[in-house]
Amino acid sequence: MSSNTQASNQTADLQLQVQHLKNEMRNLQSMAALGELTGTATHEFNNVLMTVINYAKLGIRNRDDASRDKALNKILEASERAAKITNTILAQAKNRSESFEPTNLVEIIESSLILLEREMRNYRIAIETEIDPSTPMVTASGNQIGRVLLNLLINARQAITEGGTILVRLAPSQESGWVELTVRDSGSGIPKESLPRIFESFYSTKSGPDESGKGGTGLGLAACKDIVDAHQGRIRVESTVGVGTAFIIRLPIASQAKSAA
Ligand SMILES: Nc1ncnc2c1ncn2[C@@H]1O[C@H](COP(=O)(O)OP(=O)(O)O)[C@@H](O)[C@H]1O
Ligand SMILES: [Mg+2]
Repeated sequence: MSSNTQASNQTADLQLQVQHLKNEMRNLQSMAALGELTGTATHEFNNVLMTVINYAKLGIRNRDDASRDKALNKILEASERAAKITNTILAQAKNRSESFEPTNLVEIIESSLILLEREMRNYRIAIETEIDPSTPMVTASGNQIGRVLLNLLINARQAITEGGTILVRLAPSQESGWVELTVRDSGSGIPKESLPRIFESFYSTKSGPDESGKGGTGLGLAACKDIVDAHQGRIRVESTVGVGTAFIIRLPIASQAKSAA
């Protein structure tokens, strides 16, 4: 074999290996995004169960009507929340194909916020939503966008130390044909020199997962970017240290919605 052929064989080999590693990386990233979701949902579900158990015990211990009424009401409230959480997980499971179809982002936003409701309250974070009712549907996998949103919301939460605000905004984009989904936080902000790196795999400024087991892998934003790219969308970031950060995602309007407009 000539040294030329040998070299080109080697190059082909290396290219294969790089391709293989890229695929592995993609798998890791999507598993990280899915892990963030199932982790949150399981944790929330468990919390609801604890509430049910504790109020059931309280109702059994206290025989008076007032205590029993209170216990039953709390159990009802918690069970309704449990049903919402399972619905969110079931919706993920049902849509296994991860297919791209006309999707109403309002539903995706609502179910993500239900999952994080209690966690946000615990960290004294107020969630605001600003949803333009004229926003058309987008062509998207609701599951995948749900994971993106959850990742962005958890990052936002982790950037806020002493309580703050997260705004989720949905509106048609200035540029026609697109919808814009924004997650804005009043957190620490990102220094200018770090901005170019945040979408890199394994880039993280966190020392490891936080007390709820989230973050620290540096895979979250890389997964978000992968998902948005696969949607032919765009994700960008605006940040000011000490003021906060906004991640702005653009997704294409569903073609049906376009012709209906
Ligand atoms: N909303 C935000 N505010 C401030 N910094 C952020 C925000 N989102 C992401 N970052 C920065 O980008 C890094 C990468 O984020 P990510 O890929 O989700 O990884 P991880 O959360 O595991 O660190 C974070 O470690 C953090 O430094
Ligand atoms: Mg993260």
